[in-house]
Amino acid sequence: MDTKEIKILAIESSCDETAAAVVVNGRDVRSNIISTQIPLHTLYGGVVPEIASRKHIERINQVIEQALEAADMSLEDMDGIAVTYGPGLVGALLVGVAEAKAIAFATNKPLIGVHHIEGHISANYIENKDLEPPFLCLVVSGGHTHLVRVVDYGKYEILGRTRDDAAGEAFDKVARAIGLGYPGGPKIEKAALEGNPFAYNFTRPKVADGLYDFSFSGLKSQVLNYINSAAMKGEEIDNNDIAASFQQTVIDTLCDHASMAIEEFGMDKFAIAGGVASNQTLRKAMEDMCREKGVKFYHPSPILCTDNAAMIGAAAYYEFLAGKFDGWDLNAIPNLKLGER
Ligand code: KG4
Ligand code: ZN
Repeated sequence: MDTKEIKILAIESSCDETAAAVVVNGRDVRSNIISTQIPLHTLYGGVVPEIASRKHIERINQVIEQALEAADMSLEDMDGIAVTYGPGLVGALLVGVAEAKAIAFATNKPLIGVHHIEGHISANYIENKDLEPPFLCLVVSGGHTHLVRVVDYGKYEILGRTRDDAAGEAFDKVARAIGLGYPGGPKIEKAALEGNPFAYNFTRPKVADGLYDFSFSGLKSQVLNYINSAAMKGEEIDNNDIAASFQQTVIDTLCDHASMAIEEFGMDKFAIAGGVASNQTLRKAMEDMCREKGVKFYHPSPILCTDNAAMIGAAAYYEFLAGKFDGWDLNAIPNLKLGER
């Protein structure tokens, strides 16, 4: 087989985005179609799993057709069919997994199950053609907060993870508390631009027995308690200041952890990934920290930070090269751990 041009059709349906992409040799994105359900779930203040699954079923065939059309290729041109099989919402994952299995079976192509977080990390390969492991990666999304040493392609060492809420989840909950709605991340970021990040002194959450672990539920509670006690005293609160101070505390915490790990493990490359990595203030803080340390900083464009299938195609390519294929028994695993495969 000509290994110079490996074309992968990738499918992602783990949460509230139905996505398909065609990726050549892991880094050349020929199409990246994303059908978002965000406006639908906004009505309910968060993702409703049952609605998400139904919408994926409605959209998935069209999204795949669009991805092939935009890449000017057919299913026959593909060398493999990749799909996110976990972690995520089980019903949502199942739609993508069943679809990928059906396509792979019908076309007699290899099936490649991809870990969603591995996809987020691999989003960095797409626009940074020079990026190769080893590097340190901070994955910050709605469901995950992981500080990961990418030892090699497909080989990960988790240095720290959240003990409770993920960073994006904390953004979403605080946004709801100050009436900004879902999804909270972009709304907090916008409000924070008008606020003072030093107006409120929220304490940076620490985990006593885990240097690199995170805990964001305490910070969320600090903010909620502050809002409630101000309301009881009849005091005015400035939502922009709350948003800016909360965001700053999250950024400082993430920066502290990343900085410590860079030092301890002598890393010379640092990447960020996941929905929260599209936050410009966070990105700037990480960039400044890396510049100070003489560490090379990598980040995907915002569209490749939030859920998409191009990142799944990027991760799948390295599995393809390693000959890691799946059988027809591939199943959705909602709590799949990184590096468990
Ligand atoms: O990676 P992603 O699309 O889905 C998951 O795998 O979870 O991340 C979604 C999360 C949401 O919690 C959303 O509020 C957050 O990423 N997010 C942001 C921003 N854009 C999205 N958080 C902070 N600032 C942003 N600009
Ligand atoms: Zn994600």
